[in-house]
Amino acid sequence: MTQGGVTGSRVLGTGSALPRRVVTNAELAQTVDTSDEWIVARTGIRQRHIAGEGETTASLATAAARAALEDAGIEASSIGLIVLATATPDNTFPATATKVQAALGCQGGIAFDVAAVCSGFLYALATADSLLRTGMAKRALVIGAETFSRILDWEDRTTCVLFGDGAGAVVLEAPSGANDGVGILGTKLHADGDQHDLLYVDGGPSSTQTVGHVRMRGPEVFRHAVVNLADVLKEVLEDTGVSVAEIDWVVPHQANARILDATARKLGLAPEKVVVTVDRHANTSAASVPLALDLARRDGRIKQGDLVMLEAMGGGFTWGASLIRM
Ligand code: ACO
Repeated sequence: MTQGGVTGSRVLGTGSALPRRVVTNAELAQTVDTSDEWIVARTGIRQRHIAGEGETTASLATAAARAALEDAGIEASSIGLIVLATATPDNTFPATATKVQAALGCQGGIAFDVAAVCSGFLYALATADSLLRTGMAKRALVIGAETFSRILDWEDRTTCVLFGDGAGAVVLEAPSGANDGVGILGTKLHADGDQHDLLYVDGGPSSTQTVGHVRMRGPEVFRHAVVNLADVLKEVLEDTGVSVAEIDWVVPHQANARILDATARKLGLAPEKVVVTVDRHANTSAASVPLALDLARRDGRIKQGDLVMLEAMGGGFTWGASLIRM
């Protein structure tokens, strides 16, 4: 079964962008009381990219979008919708999506941001797919872009070692009506506002008039993540009538290698089917899923026709999963 009995929007291309500067665990250990051994053992992270001068969420998003347009072989002028997921916008307003739209030179269509933190890309993808299905636009750019380095407390070793910066983008096209089984087959999204205090930013325009810093109760987040992600994956599989064994690739949010392993084990999923980038990128929040998807397409792992499950969980809590036939 597909959503509403009709195959959803299809992926025409993907792209990604990373800041120039790479920061290793050893480099972090020079300024924070941590070690490469601790970070690798507890998280699988070895390095992250950190935005430098002139690099912002919008500039990374624009570079990722350009790469996705090139991959799709289409002009920016054919994009009628930009949905950008971020928790680290360039400005409180206007939406970073409008900055990307201006940089690409495709003004006039729809452009807005989505705030669902680490699962933002899944929320953005579902939103864009819904708008494309209703005919609001024909082609969309769905982007996840973050500069989390700018909201980290660099003296808090329990959070600052976990995150990195980057952007990923996908070009989506409205369903053709051919119903050939290619495209987004099913999506499930959830939120639980009761869990606000486990993962949040202690600032904002209306509360403190400051940007604030990421605060997290890591072990509790970890436990919720494994349960929620396994559950939402099962929901999507049930809805679409697909078995775990039929999935070619899982592209998960990259928070912690141990979360990826534990979720795969809970589902009975072969670990070699899970795309892992957390070692190189760390947790790039909304950017992590499209970044990993682009990487695995470009290195030849994910091919046309493959059945790919995207999944993520983040602050809120929010979480979701989406099954796509590429
Ligand atoms: N370097 C060295 N020691 C550290 C560091 C560090 N960077 N950070 C914490 N420690 C210490 C702690 O102080 C603690 O010391 P103590 O025992 O003397 O008190 C010890 O290491 C163990 O700390 P825990 O927090 O229990 O370690 P844990 O094994 O749970 O790992 C981690 C922590 C990595 C944060 C883990 O809980 C995690 O990944 N949680 C998921 C959170 C996450 O990824 N959130 C991102 C967004 S949500 C999502 O994407 C799912």
